[in-house]
Amino acid sequence: MDFNVTLLPGDGVGPEVIDAAVAVLGAIERKYGHNFHLHSKNIGGIAIDTTGVPLPEDTLSDCKAADAVLLGAVGGPKWDSLKPHLRPERGLLTLRAELGLFANIRPAVLHDELAQSSPLRADIAKQGVNIMMVRELTGGIYFGDRGYRDGAMGQEAYDTEVYSINEIERIAKIAFELAMTRGKKVTSVDKANVLATSRLWRATVERIAVGYPEVKLESMLVDNCAMQLVKNPSQFDVILTSNMFGDILSDEAAAVTGSIGMLPSSSLGAGGAGLYEPIHGSAPDIAGKDEVNPIAAILAAAMMLSQSLKLTNEAWAVENAVHKTLAKGLRTKDIAVGGKKAVSCSRMTEEIVFAILDM
Ligand code: NAD
Ligand code: IPM
Ligand code: MN
Repeated sequence: MDFNVTLLPGDGVGPEVIDAAVAVLGAIERKYGHNFHLHSKNIGGIAIDTTGVPLPEDTLSDCKAADAVLLGAVGGPKWDSLKPHLRPERGLLTLRAELGLFANIRPAVLHDELAQSSPLRADIAKQGVNIMMVRELTGGIYFGDRGYRDGAMGQEAYDTEVYSINEIERIAKIAFELAMTRGKKVTSVDKANVLATSRLWRATVERIAVGYPEVKLESMLVDNCAMQLVKNPSQFDVILTSNMFGDILSDEAAAVTGSIGMLPSSSLGAGGAGLYEPIHGSAPDIAGKDEVNPIAAILAAAMMLSQSLKLTNEAWAVENAVHKTLAKGLRTKDIAVGGKKAVSCSRMTEEIVFAILDM
């Protein structure tokens, strides 16, 4: 079949991990006879350098017309002092909002092969980690009113968190639907002991839960959740949370599974193109060194195959190839422990491509 995919490599390690995902998509094309029409567009810092804005009109319209969008990462020190509306990150936030991508799905799985790469104590890692993080993506403090003003103690800055019942309901339904396909448990994470938005969040989620009698709902305060993620992560099935809490907790969940370089994500809305990306950033400290772990981006491409392109066998082939490659002992630097020699990003990618073609 033919598919249109917009590639947004972005900044730092973004182009390196997108190259890896493209190599994997090439193997899937060859093996299964598909045609992926890939068009690369600029976003983030590279877009600022070439066009003056972080999300050029041409990039946005290409994404809107595509079957799916695959993004590397945006940002870096070079652009850190720009005005907020011209920062690379603003390009990504605007893209999410423009495509209506309110649901961000981040699966944090500790693969058996990587038990030793996890910073968890062995007896905790042995219990397993398999968490589906469902993060609200187009609301909350990321999109509320913000600015600077004169206050009683001089200049002050403010950011505002706003959530409507409608926004909470639609993301809660996604979490409950997902839980029905898994462990039938939702942990809704909030700060209802302090925040009004969290109190509305909790009451709304409890109401939605009534429609899913088979799913066990638990509400947990975010500070406790941060602790439970390292103390007893096997208790979690689906974690449902707001934009800001989801951002923070998903980096923590990623670290628990071995490395942030392992965790992919999909961002979905009411219809149209989905956006797929690793959860990590542009990793400026390792950019250009061919040492970045490409697996998060490769698994993001697998999520794209199954969720937007409905190619479930092909997605499975990619995931299986990743497992086989890890089982063979290949490790990039971030997951190489216990004296294991690290391989480069391109070597890891070659092995995964080989594993797909060899299946
Ligand atoms: P980061 O995720 O880029 O890096 C954090 C640490 O993890 C670094 O030490 C990095 O080397 C390491 N790391 C990240 N991905 C890795 C991988 N695949 N393999 C091996 N190691 C990896 O976060 P940061 O340093 O806080 O942010 C850097 C820039 O990226 C900032 O400009 C930030 O705004 C941006 N950012 C972008 C996205 C995105 O595009 N979705 C996400 C997060 C951060
Ligand atoms: C992520 C990133 C983004 C976020 C930044 C780059 C705007 O950290 O995708 O997790 O905070 O959502
Ligand atoms: Mn983040």
